[in-house]
Amino acid sequence: MSTLEKLAPAASVFDLAKIRADFPILSESVRGGRLAYLDNAATTQKPEAVLRAMDHYYRHQNSNVHRAVHDLAERATMAYEGARDRIARFFNVSREQVVFTRGTTEAINLVAYSFLQPKLQAGDEILLTGMEHHSNIVPWQLVAAQAGAKVVAAPINDDGSLDFDGWRAMLNPRTRFVATGHVSNTLGTINPVAEMIAEAHARGIPVLVDGAQAIAHLSVDIPTLGADFYVCSAHKAYGPTGFGALLAKREHLDAMPPWHGGGDMIRTVSFEGSTWNEPPYRFEAGTPDMAGAVGFAAALDYIDGIGLAAMAAHEHALLLEGTARLREIPGLRLIGTAAHKGAILSFVMDCAHAQDIGTVLDQEGIAVRTGHHCTMPLMARFGVPATVRASFAAYNNQEDVDQLVRGLAKARRLFA
Ligand code: ALA
Repeated sequence: MSTLEKLAPAASVFDLAKIRADFPILSESVRGGRLAYLDNAATTQKPEAVLRAMDHYYRHQNSNVHRAVHDLAERATMAYEGARDRIARFFNVSREQVVFTRGTTEAINLVAYSFLQPKLQAGDEILLTGMEHHSNIVPWQLVAAQAGAKVVAAPINDDGSLDFDGWRAMLNPRTRFVATGHVSNTLGTINPVAEMIAEAHARGIPVLVDGAQAIAHLSVDIPTLGADFYVCSAHKAYGPTGFGALLAKREHLDAMPPWHGGGDMIRTVSFEGSTWNEPPYRFEAGTPDMAGAVGFAAALDYIDGIGLAAMAAHEHALLLEGTARLREIPGLRLIGTAAHKGAILSFVMDCAHAQDIGTVLDQEGIAVRTGHHCTMPLMARFGVPATVRASFAAYNNQEDVDQLVRGLAKARRLFA
């Protein structure tokens, strides 16, 4: 019996065949054969329920929000604000704490420019970890450069876990802000964010958690975590691209100045000066992505309908199975083997560059990501230019793992 069979939840709880049938794109033929979609850390596929909700929005509710009294404008506003309630409920925060953004990257930039930049002084430090995605590095560098402040990164252990003691030792009186990924997009490492937040808060330092790779795989209760800012994207959680959220403590949002100017974020405008709307609207300039909000809410309904715990257990079984099978392949080195990790397998092979492996896998219908995964400092830490990354979602199955293993065997035959 495979690890997967041993650990997969009972079919009555977790009906994998039904889940797969919910995702139309999984039946697409690619390169003339079966698709094994293992690029879920880049973006997940979308279930019928999300496609239908967005289609319904455009067919029956579309108008602009917060601006007119006509029936459709009311429907659009209800749909958009209803989505805010749904998203707030998913993360256990109040609706005023949910700022809609174009995604994780925009949410981090919003915090960097609106919250942190006005406070930053020369010599201040922003503490990151060595496994951050570029979008959780570069915005901090941009605001640090303007203030003469510095971005510093905590060390990573050889297994891809955070060197927690090393991280804690870097907290000091100059540390003005802490930002960390919840789950590493490249390694799958799950960071001890609750402990990190407690340590930072004990020193009066606010914390942003990048939850892009977490929300479809781990239950996130923001008040329990205690994060000042938690950011995420819909598209990595079965929702649409170009949409995400900043979930923030109310007192921070109340004190933050606008970042982008335009319609909806104002209270009054005159040529002498303007005044600002309340959060979250203060940070939502311009016509928002209403269908995106509706799609995100439908994706969270979908997740809750199956149950995050069952999804995570299934993905964990795939991870164990995949790890064991990949370890048997000669010349394959897994990068990121932390004890506490999500369903991501990053690896290199001694016979060929990651890009070439990816090309062979593609010919076999296997979609993986190859490259530096927008984590160049992490690549440098592990002394590799690139990895192959297979990342799992709830709809992946044993056949996907088998297809990956067969594809890698073919790559070895071709290159070794
Ligand atoms: N951040 C996404 C990834 O890891 C795009 O692939």
